[in-house]
Amino acid sequence: MDDKPKPVSPPPPTPDPLRPIIAPRPTWRSKASNWFFGLKPADSVLKRRAAGLVDKLEIAEHLQANGTYVDIGSGTGHIPTQIARRAVGLHARFVCIEPVSRPTKRVLHRMRTRTDGHVHFARSIGNRLPLPDGVANGVSAFFVLHHIPYPIQLEVLAEIKRVLVPGGLFFLWEDTPRNEREFLANEVWDRRLNFEPRSEPHFYRSGDDWQKLLTESGFEPVNQAYYEDHSRRRGEGLIRHTGFVSRHTPASHG
Ligand SMILES: C[S@@+](CC[C@H](N)C(=O)[O-])C[C@H]1O[C@@H](n2cnc3c(N)ncnc32)[C@H](O)[C@@H]1O
Repeated sequence: MDDKPKPVSPPPPTPDPLRPIIAPRPTWRSKASNWFFGLKPADSVLKRRAAGLVDKLEIAEHLQANGTYVDIGSGTGHIPTQIARRAVGLHARFVCIEPVSRPTKRVLHRMRTRTDGHVHFARSIGNRLPLPDGVANGVSAFFVLHHIPYPIQLEVLAEIKRVLVPGGLFFLWEDTPRNEREFLANEVWDRRLNFEPRSEPHFYRSGDDWQKLLTESGFEPVNQAYYEDHSRRRGEGLIRHTGFVSRHTPASHG
């Protein structure tokens, strides 16, 4: 037997698990909505809305230096851009998960010029986050979960817990109708705002139900915010929106 030590080749460099991000693939529908949402008036409305939502939840106060933040269902990217705008100087990293849409040119420009620039996009879904365990200091999902069937919402919550560091935060905004009438009004509102087909189903929960589910799923309440819209169409009623900041508490829930 030959006892001479064999030359050992150096190990391949460890790839950054957050780096190999799939570029979003446009469809005709996403191209059309991208065009519309990229127009200047639509862009300014969406930018202001995103900034308001981020500030109502006081997200800036929770952002950490060198943190990693994941946004699920980023749409055209206004939400993660506004969060990243509030993290300038912190060298934080942002990962945007979105199955269909892609950021508009204006949003991309804003991301490149007005944030630290560590923003990546992945084409994926909330219950299959392309991230390793325990890497995220925060995960946001704004008005996404009501598009996802109830049993899959639970999978998304489990996936969020998987990628969060212990004590990491979950930032959630949802449409939160309280009864059947408000549920139906919310559907009409949602379809009109998002150009959804009439067949698009919605899986809303009330604010109390969300809070209960979050607590049962191992998320401890930190902060809550609320606002309402009033549909201009007669008889449609109130559209309620509730925001939640919750802390992942693995000690009590495994
Ligand atoms: C109403 S839009 C909200 C976009 C953005 N979060 C905002 O508030 O401006 C809902 C987004 O969720 C995305 N979405 C739908 N199902 C999803 C899923 N299973 N996982 C992740 N995102 C999803 C849609 O493609 C869409 O971009």
